[in-house]
Amino acid sequence: MEKAQYKSIQFHFFTGTGNSGKVCEWIAATAKEKGIETASYKITEPFMPIESPPQDALIVFASPTHGFNYPPIMVKYLLNFPKGKNHIALINTRAGMLIGNFVTPGLSGIALYLAAFILWLKGYKVRAMYPVDLPSNWISIHPGLNMSTIKKLHIINKARVNKMSEKLLNGDSNYRALFDVVQDILISPISLLYYLMGRFLLAKTFYASANCTNCGLCYKKCPVQAIKLINNRPFWTIHCESCMRCMGNCPENAIETSHGFTFAFFYLIYATLIVWFYTLIDMTGIQIQYYWLKMGLEFTIGITFFSVAYYAMHYLMLNKWVQKLMVYTSLTHFNFWGRRYKALKDKDFE
Ligand SMILES: Cc1cc2nc3c(=O)[nH]c(=O)nc-3n(C[C@H](O)[C@H](O)[C@H](O)COP(=O)(O)O)c2cc1C
Repeated sequence: MEKAQYKSIQFHFFTGTGNSGKVCEWIAATAKEKGIETASYKITEPFMPIESPPQDALIVFASPTHGFNYPPIMVKYLLNFPKGKNHIALINTRAGMLIGNFVTPGLSGIALYLAAFILWLKGYKVRAMYPVDLPSNWISIHPGLNMSTIKKLHIINKARVNKMSEKLLNGDSNYRALFDVVQDILISPISLLYYLMGRFLLAKTFYASANCTNCGLCYKKCPVQAIKLINNRPFWTIHCESCMRCMGNCPENAIETSHGFTFAFFYLIYATLIVWFYTLIDMTGIQIQYYWLKMGLEFTIGITFFSVAYYAMHYLMLNKWVQKLMVYTSLTHFNFWGRRYKALKDKDFE
């Protein structure tokens, strides 16, 4: 394929805790050195009208990976993007960690393939599919990384991105993501389960502890307007993307993931509900043959039950003992686990 020359670059990015925005910043710096104009569009909901890009512009889409996929807001954005023939670079930031000086890569799953497919159907030419293993922000499921690891991951990834963007802006293609194709295919069923089910449950694991001063930062900064005020306290709706921006930005570290509540209410009580449900079904003599139908029913019962329990918990937490129980069964509350994450400014690691 002949080498491309770009007069301008458009960055369209979604970011929870800053990693994906950071990668765009690094590529933009290389572009500026080459005298290429840049324009950035931060993706939040509701979407602003999207204009067709100029013909000779390279378009970069960047997003975190959520549940081995691009998050739903990013998929919706791509579906809304006007048709065109431009060259595209697709970036996904993933959960990078360090073992010694070795960066353990995250898992992309179907993120870039789905994005590439949508854009190909719209007429675009995908010239780069590139994963970047910046620090994982998902402290709901693992202890937060320490500052030395976070700094090292920024240094290593900045060098990698600079190298990649130097070549990309000189007109070369880069399909680094395809090295992971086998593992991506293997985990693709989980991508689907996360997209159709898991994310709704995750949305209901956040709450604000008594440390919340109601400063409003979480709901004002939420990129999908998923946090409402109920009874003057933040309440996470099912629309939440679990992007961790609220947790990373809360000045009081008041936002927690409710591990105890999720385990007790969801796994224990929900398991009992499901046993009752099937006993009832057996008694009526109805047979549910399809696996997917069963899963759908179980999920619908689960999420309905969990949402109601979450709503009740929001009020029960007005009681200081319930509040304490919630907080002390949340791993994010403890120092060994709950280090909040936000991407660093370049001056803080260079
Ligand atoms: C809800 C959620 C799901 C995630 N799923 C994945 C995943 O499937 N694979 C992965 O490598 N990283 C995963 N991560 C980690 C993020 O993709 C990673 O930290 C990313 O760089 C964050 O980017 P951002 O700061 O632009 O939001 C997940 C993070 C969250 C919060």
